[in-house]
Amino acid sequence: MKNILITGGAGFIGSHVVRLFVNKYPDYTIVNLDKLTYAGNLANLKDIEDKSNYYFEKCDICDFGSVSNIFRKYDIDGVIHLAAESHVDRSIKDPFTFAETNVLGTLSLLQAAKSHWNGNWENKLFYHISTDEVYGALEMNGGFFVETTKYQPHSPYSASKASSDHFVCAFHDTYGIPTIITNCSNNYGPYQFPEKLIPLFINNIRNRKPLPVYGKGENIRDWLYVEDHARAIDLIFHEGRIAETYNIGGFNEWKNIDLINILIKTVDNLLGNPEGTSTHLITYVADRAGHDLRYAIDSTKLHKELGWSPSLQFEEGIERTVKWYLNNQEWLDNITSGDYKRYYEEMYKTR
Ligand code: NAD
Ligand code: DAU
Repeated sequence: MKNILITGGAGFIGSHVVRLFVNKYPDYTIVNLDKLTYAGNLANLKDIEDKSNYYFEKCDICDFGSVSNIFRKYDIDGVIHLAAESHVDRSIKDPFTFAETNVLGTLSLLQAAKSHWNGNWENKLFYHISTDEVYGALEMNGGFFVETTKYQPHSPYSASKASSDHFVCAFHDTYGIPTIITNCSNNYGPYQFPEKLIPLFINNIRNRKPLPVYGKGENIRDWLYVEDHARAIDLIFHEGRIAETYNIGGFNEWKNIDLINILIKTVDNLLGNPEGTSTHLITYVADRAGHDLRYAIDSTKLHKELGWSPSLQFEEGIERTVKWYLNNQEWLDNITSGDYKRYYEEMYKTR
């Protein structure tokens, strides 16, 4: 597979995957298909946008006609599908958009791939990026999510991702289209949209704004540095077994409030503030509706089969991440002011 379609490549994880593939595989054609919703930002890819093996297509995955044209135009043989609405809080307010993009959008891509490949499945792959949230929530001492854990999504976001996973499996089982699904834990690192916990809180500490902790801050998430996720995607895309599911995670669970205290300490330290300066910003607010208590991924299968393990210790990853946001204040300010959208909207109007 040399003509690769990466959807959602202007988003957080997608931009890391695009960068890795464009730099590592100069003989591949890498097509980034993205609608540029509020979460899509081409500034995330500034360093690689002029590479000769990189192409960008502004397109909605729900637009079956345009997606099919892109398959034909580049003779796509591999798909890495990341495009999605990804924020749980938004899904609680607006579930329809999540069903449309995550379910119907995935179906549109599957159908376009099936038509273009037309039964010739050799050296073809539809790789779907999913989440650990489809498994539901674990008790405090309730073990781990494994690949065979029953799907039990709670939020409209996780329900839409679970539904898209089922469509991917159905297209394999019904038509034979070669598929792989991976379910990953919470990612962190550069270029994450500052509505998610880690970049939001770094930005708020920097601007001396309140840090809204949902409930008692006792929920647990399992954090993985985004470049380790991108490395896993690369490995699985090239060496994973067809029709398999792989869990991706770093056995790195943190209670929200403990993670928040690490963020406060790291930001204060890097800004030269005395320890504890920003602790008073912690503000307990109403809990998220249906807030999942704990996620924890068992990625033993991926480790045993393909030899993947995370490369970065959490302390190092957090320090690297905080430094990145503090050194890229313009990137953050362009998002919070809305300038990133205006700039690219103008650019596409004039093309
Ligand atoms: P993100 O919100 O940062 O980026 C999503 C991207 O998809 C954006 O560039 C957006 O413009 C694009 N997009 C949205 N709707 C589209 C549409 N209709 N057509 C074309 N493009 C569209 O998301 P992310 O955090 O990078 O997550 C990427 C994928 O990984 C998602 O499928 C998500 O479910 C999954 N995932 C995320 C995490 C995480 O911690 N962030 C963990 C596990 C799995
Ligand atoms: O587990 C993988 C999932 O991780 C991905 O599939 C999702 O796309 C991604 O958004 C993420 O979901 P979470 O809901 O876990 O991430 P979020 O950053 O929104 O929240 C992390 C935890 O912090 C969660 O327990 C809610 C809490 N939180 C979040 C925000 C934004 C707060 O306490 N305050 C906040 O302001």
